[in-house]
Amino acid sequence: MNHPEELKQLVARAALAYVPAGVVIGVGTGSTVNCFIDALATLQPGIVAAVSSSEATTARLQAHGIAVRDANTVERLAVYIDGADEIDPQGCMIKGGGAALTREKIVADLADSFICIADVSKRVAKLGRFPLPVEVIPMAQAQIARHLRALGGHPVVRAATVTDNGGCIIDVHGLTISDPVGLEAEINQWPGVVAVGLFARQRAHLCLLGTEDGLQTLRF
Ligand code: 5RP
Repeated sequence: MNHPEELKQLVARAALAYVPAGVVIGVGTGSTVNCFIDALATLQPGIVAAVSSSEATTARLQAHGIAVRDANTVERLAVYIDGADEIDPQGCMIKGGGAALTREKIVADLADSFICIADVSKRVAKLGRFPLPVEVIPMAQAQIARHLRALGGHPVVRAATVTDNGGCIIDVHGLTISDPVGLEAEINQWPGVVAVGLFARQRAHLCLLGTEDGLQTLRF
């Protein structure tokens, strides 16, 4: 069996084939994306710049000499490349394990296509085993936790975590997510929710999955 780190390297390198030369792309957050950023730095001809989904990603891109553009200066991105905590057979995802879900959604919204890079452990038949992250405005935390309990979830405030936006993260355990689009819409409407880590409306168009048999390409 391949080591998880090798699978991350595999999908990170494979993603380079989907990066057009001379454009601005969107870059996600996490350990798989870190491998992608390192690979991106070797790409010739390279990209013009990236729009970043977190301060951590910005720092890594800049450390490689890759220019980072403010999302407000860009009208569209050819592609957004990011990892996931879970991905289902329709390309719907749970994201936010790295607390960057809100900016990830903003950058993904600018992109024509979302390419998910992940190892095979992230592929699930149904979303919900991974606790669903919700970024909230701190003063709404208790009320949103009540709403989440009413849905049958067990909300746990992530310890010692302040997002890049000054929000806090509630991780919701025990949810059965049979309607990802509906649940995303419902949670989004509660006052104080900044973003929910369900990427159902902004699902992946393609997933590069690292498996013990090599690279698998899933199209949705
Ligand atoms: C960060 C994310 C990441 O994409 C997700 O947590 C996967 O990370 P990793 O590649 O480290 O497993 O959503 O907010």
